Amino acid sequence: MSSKRIVGYNSWMFRRKAIHDPAVASELVRDIKAAQPDHVMVTGDLVNLALPREFINGESWLRNLGKPDWISFVPGNHDAYVPVQWDKGMGCLGNYMTGDLMVPGAVTTADIAMPFPYVRQRRNIALIGVSTAVPTRPGRAAGVLGEAQIDALAATLKNLRSKGFYRILMIHHPPLPGMARRRKALTDAMGLKEILEDQGCDLVVHGHNHITMRNTLASRHGPVHILGMPAATSNGARSTEPAAWNEYHVRRTSGRWQCTVNTRCWDTEKCSFVPQTSYSLD
Ligand SMILES: [Fe+2]
Repeated sequence: MSSKRIVGYNSWMFRRKAIHDPAVASELVRDIKAAQPDHVMVTGDLVNLALPREFINGESWLRNLGKPDWISFVPGNHDAYVPVQWDKGMGCLGNYMTGDLMVPGAVTTADIAMPFPYVRQRRNIALIGVSTAVPTRPGRAAGVLGEAQIDALAATLKNLRSKGFYRILMIHHPPLPGMARRRKALTDAMGLKEILEDQGCDLVVHGHNHITMRNTLASRHGPVHILGMPAATSNGARSTEPAAWNEYHVRRTSGRWQCTVNTRCWDTEKCSFVPQTSYSLD
């Protein structure tokens, strides 16, 4: 076993295991299915140590949630915890990361054989997935987009804006500088910030910090709403934030996009997901 996996295993046994509860994830699936959304976005990490068995279990969890064309997934740092052969690792999840169309400049890497960014169009909403998942040395959980992916994303945002789509960017790491501790941060966040300011984006969803985050970035094309969620498996133990998920209602009224966000969170006493808050992103 690699030294990083040993460190990660110890972290799991002595700290994380008490927090991340499969029963919460199962109830999350039930709650999402009951809501019958048009689409589901999952922003990684699906696995912990990137062991082949974890990817099989992760794919099974996604399959139980729904069909690949109904779920869009982007990988996180734990999904690339150490280098893993594609077909024994993230390749299991490939059907959840396929785009509907060719994205000019989309790139594959040594770790991810799928082209990123990918785009899925669902009516007048465009879901754009990017990968920040790269193996790092022990003790680090940083993410990287890379110059090629950033360039392709800029062109994609511009293209989709010109066609009138509501653009949602899915990314695992918090997208802006200062949103995560340095050892856990997106290393090229400044580059991403610049293209978001330049091209705009209606909504950015992310994970990674295991807490609810709500930020807004001013762009040349209006506010970029940036929302992060706690871990989907968190039972709230040890003062952690319990699991939650957001339901987004996107509609176009009088020539303007409107998005209402309904948050449902894990209730530690009821052991189920309950309404937490509701707000508008206008
Ligand atoms: Fe992460």
